[in-house]
Amino acid sequence: MLIAVDGPLASGKGTIARHLSQWYHLPYLDTGLLYRACALGVLRKNGDPEDEETALKSARTVDQKALDDPELRSARIGAAASKVAAIPAVRQALMDYQQNFARIPGGAVLDGRDIGTVICPQADIKLWISAPADERAQRRFQELRARGENISYDEVLNQLKERDTRDAGRKEAPMLRAADAHLLNTGGLSIDAAFEAARRIVDATKADLS
Ligand code: CDP
Repeated sequence: MLIAVDGPLASGKGTIARHLSQWYHLPYLDTGLLYRACALGVLRKNGDPEDEETALKSARTVDQKALDDPELRSARIGAAASKVAAIPAVRQALMDYQQNFARIPGGAVLDGRDIGTVICPQADIKLWISAPADERAQRRFQELRARGENISYDEVLNQLKERDTRDAGRKEAPMLRAADAHLLNTGGLSIDAAFEAARRIVDATKADLS
């Protein structure tokens, strides 16, 4: 069973995808980490994340080991990730890794922005996770503060708006709900409640598939 989970920043897609992978015993790939690892490689070389040549070189060196770095979760890397992700050649370079992962026998869970539309349009189940912008900003603010980042709520909200606009507006593989994706709004829901709602959708779709 191949499950595609997409949605904007801090919508809850990562948490839901991780819980689904544990519940259904499926391997999980957080595809945002690939773009974040690419961005980290660029910034470590003092490069410009909007420069195609530098970003592409970095994308080509991304591998499994690069995805464990805790620095990847910082706000600075998130902002730069959204810039490298707007470069078509970077998206192309990271595509094989994602599609190979999706071919693991037995299935997998992938989360991102274009999994249901571009990376795995053949996914058995697609979820589009959303939540109001102020609630998403509040969640991300708390996560970043818990990591020890010195950032204000307003800065987080501004970055969120900037990233949403860039991710949805880019020409190549924009952040977009697949027409056949199930909508799940996690606004006001606890993690357990959001996961339960996702699990119900997956179970109902699985029953229809068989
Ligand atoms: O966790 P959060 O929602 O902040 O972001 P992420 O999933 O780690 O992704 C970081 C950035 O990578 C996003 O803002 C997107 O620009 C980009 N991304 C993408 O373009 N396509 C994906 N499949 C995953 C991430």
